Amino acid sequence: MPRPITVDNGVEPIETASVDELRALQLERLQWSVRHAYDNVEHYRKSLEAVQVHPDDVRSLDDLTLLPFTTKADLRDNYPFGMFAVPREQVVRVHASSGTTGRPTVVGYTRDDLDMWATVVARSVRAAGGRPGDMLHNAYGYGLFTGGLGAHGGAEKLGCTVVPVSGGMTERQVQLIDEFRPTVIMVTPSYALNIIDEMERQGIDPRATSLNIGIFGAEPWTNEMRRSVEERLDIHAVDIYGLSEVIGPGVAQECVETKDGLHVWEDHFYPEIIDPVTGKVLPDGEKGELVFTSLTKQAMPVLRYRTRDLTRLLPGTARPMRRIEKITGRTDDMIILRGVNLFPTQIEELVLTVPELTPHFQCVLTRDGNLDALTVRIERDEHTTSDAARDAGRHVAGLVKRTIGVTVGVDVVEPGAIERSVGKMRRIVDERSPR
Ligand code: DLL
Repeated sequence: MPRPITVDNGVEPIETASVDELRALQLERLQWSVRHAYDNVEHYRKSLEAVQVHPDDVRSLDDLTLLPFTTKADLRDNYPFGMFAVPREQVVRVHASSGTTGRPTVVGYTRDDLDMWATVVARSVRAAGGRPGDMLHNAYGYGLFTGGLGAHGGAEKLGCTVVPVSGGMTERQVQLIDEFRPTVIMVTPSYALNIIDEMERQGIDPRATSLNIGIFGAEPWTNEMRRSVEERLDIHAVDIYGLSEVIGPGVAQECVETKDGLHVWEDHFYPEIIDPVTGKVLPDGEKGELVFTSLTKQAMPVLRYRTRDLTRLLPGTARPMRRIEKITGRTDDMIILRGVNLFPTQIEELVLTVPELTPHFQCVLTRDGNLDALTVRIERDEHTTSDAARDAGRHVAGLVKRTIGVTVGVDVVEPGAIERSVGKMRRIVDERSPR
């Protein structure tokens, strides 16, 4: 059994503040943030002027809807430093997200921003069950990606002993876990699977390691995956969410005692859910695209930034701050197959129910005449015979047809045949030639 979880009183006061107190703080900070962006970033001044809104018009949190959205395209158009609201000399760090196409987006941090970021990540690690003094194995990639350094700063701030391994060199990851005996691991869920496979390859029982808690994020993963990883590693697996444009990891975090979605650290990041097509704000509880406004960021404030992530806002549980439901996918990862919308996470849920197969899968899109076709490529378990693997593949195709309502091909492949990730896994492989 993993270590029992204690809910101690080391939380920051704001984490347990009443909703009224929180809203008052948010309004004060929102007014500062809008003015800061308007006064110091040409893009925001122009975009607010275009809709004839002035920072003084923001008198309540509802007035946020007066402001135009910000998109990734706005960030790209102002590449590299055009969205900065402070002189470049005050920016002590930059990160960048590669994106799938075109220019990366660059984000910047002042010293105070780095401190705020470390605070929200420290809060996240604590909410996940981590404590000062824990040895923490950080396998998020270090570099321009925010995962490695973001997790690092917060874990150090909490008082953990951080092992800054970064992603890759999986054999050595296993060796370090075996020898340093960390209790917490921070890693993408897909790379966690590779580390577990490598433990097994080296003859190490994954359930017998020192690990107690896994803080997984940077890509979508399902509750089925949670169950599988918790079972295989004998740990608590909790979800961490974030994105570079808003700060990096630590925008929202699941609490280990409830594991029921991720509390948004609303004292720094104000969430909204909108209809991704019309842009209309949806009430809490309805599913749509997540939008964030930064409330305290200095170097690169974002106003109503469209994340493209799909989820819903739920009331607080372990903390009064609102939760987001586990992210099911991004608007740009949605596969539309003969009119049916489908996300790789839906496939993941089904694949994980079939013991003859592994969680290593990809969705391969091809074109069949005028129609798009999807083949789910899945690795069989090493103990599964070819006959049983074929049956398991047919079974998955049947499950997809019955639950999602669309016909897909399933190709069960040999163990190790699917490209491994050391960070974010590429779930969709698009082999369609351009029309
Ligand atoms: O992935 C920051 C991060 C690092 C979060 C480490 C958690 C842990 P970006 O590279 O800018 O930043 O990618 C952000 O990744 O908009 C989501 O689509 C996806 N994402 C991040 N966390 C989760 C999660 C980092 N827990 C994009 N569940 C986001 C689902 C996630 N998707």
